[in-house]
Amino acid sequence: MERAKDNYKILLTEKQIQKRVKRLGKIISDDYRGKEPVIICMLKGAVYFFADLIKHIDIPVMIDFARLSSYRNGTTSGKMELIADITAEIENRDVLIVEDIVDSGKTLSYFIDLLKEKKPASIKICTFLDKKERREVDITADYIGFDIPCGFVIGYGLDYAERYREFPFLAEIIQ
Ligand code: IMP
Ligand code: MG
Repeated sequence: MERAKDNYKILLTEKQIQKRVKRLGKIISDDYRGKEPVIICMLKGAVYFFADLIKHIDIPVMIDFARLSSYRNGTTSGKMELIADITAEIENRDVLIVEDIVDSGKTLSYFIDLLKEKKPASIKICTFLDKKERREVDITADYIGFDIPCGFVIGYGLDYAERYREFPFLAEIIQ
């Protein structure tokens, strides 16, 4: 099968990403020291970021995974569905959600409402990327890798029609 060749330009190199992720791991470790948070990886996009991040966290943690799907119409997020829920007991636990990118904020807003029903002690958000300009609901991430402008980005776990997740760098699709 012939591969689609979309045009893209590199926004963040592997080296830039790794430096920032290491720093975030240190900040998160210091903030949660003395606690044992449950860190939730949002599949599939956050896998790279999550795997790198937890290597730099030097406190005990529990990890878990959740997967949501939104029926997207172009770049507009539509109806949300929880495809795979966490299995960890999070009542009275500190929860840190690790996401690839916060765009409209609808995905995280939906997920956080579900998590709150399980009565965790706290919920914080760590996102690799933040596209603040596109926010539609009131969601603020507590830890942000990089702020980026509106364009569509790929790599380091992020996809365009399921492609390009394996790139170790972040690039922007050029139309
Ligand atoms: P939100 O619900 O609008 O905040 O959308 C968040 C989700 O949309 C992310 O978890 C990504 O899966 C996806 N997404 C948003 N922007 C991009 C992008 O630029 N590249 C790849 N995926 C994106
Ligand atoms: Mg995602």
